[in-house]
Amino acid sequence: MTDMTYRTLGTSGLMVSTVGLGCNNFGMRIDADATQHVVDAAIEAGITLFDTSDSYGDSELFLAKALGSRRDQVVIATKFGSDLRGANGPDWDARGSRRYIRRAVERSLKRLGTDHIDLYQLHKPDPNTPIEETLAALSELVRDGLIRYIGSSNLKGWQIADAEWKSRANGTERFISAQNLYSFIERGIEDEVIPACEAYGVGMLPYFPLASGLLTGKYQRGQEPPADGRITAWGMNAMLSDRNFDIVEALTTFATERDITLLDVAMGGLAAQSTVSSVIAGATTAEQVRANAAAGLWVPSAEDHKALRALVA
Ligand SMILES: NC(=O)c1ccc[n+]([C@@H]2O[C@H](COP(=O)([O-])OP(=O)(O)OC[C@H]3O[C@@H](n4cnc5c(N)ncnc54)[C@H](OP(=O)(O)O)[C@@H]3O)[C@@H](O)[C@H]2O)c1
Repeated sequence: MTDMTYRTLGTSGLMVSTVGLGCNNFGMRIDADATQHVVDAAIEAGITLFDTSDSYGDSELFLAKALGSRRDQVVIATKFGSDLRGANGPDWDARGSRRYIRRAVERSLKRLGTDHIDLYQLHKPDPNTPIEETLAALSELVRDGLIRYIGSSNLKGWQIADAEWKSRANGTERFISAQNLYSFIERGIEDEVIPACEAYGVGMLPYFPLASGLLTGKYQRGQEPPADGRITAWGMNAMLSDRNFDIVEALTTFATERDITLLDVAMGGLAAQSTVSSVIAGATTAEQVRANAAAGLWVPSAEDHKALRALVA
């Protein structure tokens, strides 16, 4: 028994853990053994939502292997629609098309070693395929039992509203979730995307919720960044800007005043923002998963919430 809490994903009936696990490190930054440790720790901590993509190298294969016989204890979310450079055959940049989606789902099912995907997400908008066709093709997969729910990623606010109305008009499945860049460092989606999610009951799954580790406290202004950290390893040093450290330091002061940690604010504070259903932080070690799962349980009071909003506004 863990202290993890569970929520519905938007207004759907799909229950997910308040803290999820982003799996883009699997096979990319960590090997099979380390992946096993991370997945075991996540399940022990009560995490049920595992988010991957057909575009994260061999992440789907690594996740399947690490889950083993526990597949039915978890919610597997994967994505299609990124450029796989021909792995699903020629696609002519129409990866939201019926033709492409069938190929993509067959490959993901094989790699995940399962007969169904719980949440199948359009990774990014396809400028060449009408969204009606994408929604209809995904609805066929639901009808055929290959996927359970559908979600979007990287859509703009108007595209979320447009997809919702087209699914209503055509009687197709609707996107129950939206996965977009969102953290206390990157709040661009609050203008248009979050209001669209609020209006239509779409659950937000923020990606890069820890700003790739910046919101864990491991990077300090004026100090050499840890050489093995994601930001250094992936050459993202532009993240270590004065503007970002100003936010980190303000959030750290906010945390210290309440006797909690920066990680608590980054995870629990984000989980408390409007429409957020699950915070899918990535991890490279079991310790990180345990820390993130615990941090996500911090629930700001109404006063904390107001102060936090004022701080990052
Ligand atoms: N839809 C999209 O377009 C899209 C794009 C990107 C990501 N995603 C999804 O979003 C998920 C989350 O994003 P992300 O993993 O890239 O970024 P993130 O959650 O912001 O950062 C994760 C990184 O921070 C470090 N970290 C995590 N917990 C820590 C802790 N407790 N203490 C210290 N360091 C810690 C780890 O890196 P190190 O140990 O290496 O420092 C970890 O890999 C991904 O896994 C993926 O599933 C989606």
